Amino acid sequence: ESTLGAAAAQSGRYFGTAIASGKLGDSTYTSIAAREFNMVTAENEMKIDATEPQRGQFNFSAADRVYNWAVQNGKQVRGHTLAWHSQQPGWMQNLSGSALRQAMIDHIKGVMAHYKGKITQWDVVNEAFADGSSGARRDSNLQRTGNDWIEVAFRTARAADPSAKLCYNDYNVENWNWAKTQAMYAMVRDFKQRGVPIDCVGFQSHFNSGSPYDSNFRTTLQNFADLGVDVAITELDIQGAPASTYANVTKDCLAVERCLGITVWGVRDSDSWRSEQTPLLFNNDGSKKPAYTAVLNAL
Ligand code: XIL
Repeated sequence: ESTLGAAAAQSGRYFGTAIASGKLGDSTYTSIAAREFNMVTAENEMKIDATEPQRGQFNFSAADRVYNWAVQNGKQVRGHTLAWHSQQPGWMQNLSGSALRQAMIDHIKGVMAHYKGKITQWDVVNEAFADGSSGARRDSNLQRTGNDWIEVAFRTARAADPSAKLCYNDYNVENWNWAKTQAMYAMVRDFKQRGVPIDCVGFQSHFNSGSPYDSNFRTTLQNFADLGVDVAITELDIQGAPASTYANVTKDCLAVERCLGITVWGVRDSDSWRSEQTPLLFNNDGSKKPAYTAVLNAL
């Protein structure tokens, strides 16, 4: 196959990218994105601050620009993200307790109603675990509303759009030996045992010298799949974009039947949130990097 999306589709998977609405007028960007990828995640436009800038006043203009571009170009869409400690609008940052809990519920309902039946996977909750060795939840205003905030978010999401796969998404959970990975595993196991509706786990996979790729990523993906959830690589970028590491990550997904697909977090290095790491598959001029060829050959 000659594109990432078509090659991934040979095994029933997808290959996606983050799309920024502000770049949809850049024809180098859109021509690569339209050609290579068959899944789209809005890089920022479906986040809480973008979709509910004032309490109860939803704004889907930027989100819909990304959504409509994706659908018009034949792509599926991952929704990102409904409940998160970061990129909250000011009004939400200032809430706590039962008022914040209700605002979270109302936000999930409002956004999911707008996209009902249109989103393949939703990242319902993003980044709820702490870094380091504690295995604890991350302290946040949402966490302080009570430890059950995550399951409430998932139950709300299931009722709002039963057709979407509901994912928990996090970073530094790719290495099986990390405490954060084990904490996320225990939560997903508990949710499956108690019937909390969760369908998938997203591994952001921002690999760099501080949190490097390890070959046990495949074990991690398989162990989560064995709990009865799908897995996905949701925000892949790798410092320096070594071709061999990109190939290994691709093979890890292909080795796990329940790995739905891979999304890279941007198109060209210059589009990356970590552009100084040159972590993506395309050069700034739009040409393909060695990592691109390695991924295509691995698919
Ligand atoms: C990043 C975006 O790429 C940036 O443009 C923005 O300034 C901050 O957020 N984990 C996530 C993504 O779940 O939403 C983040 O995206 C990167 C880390």
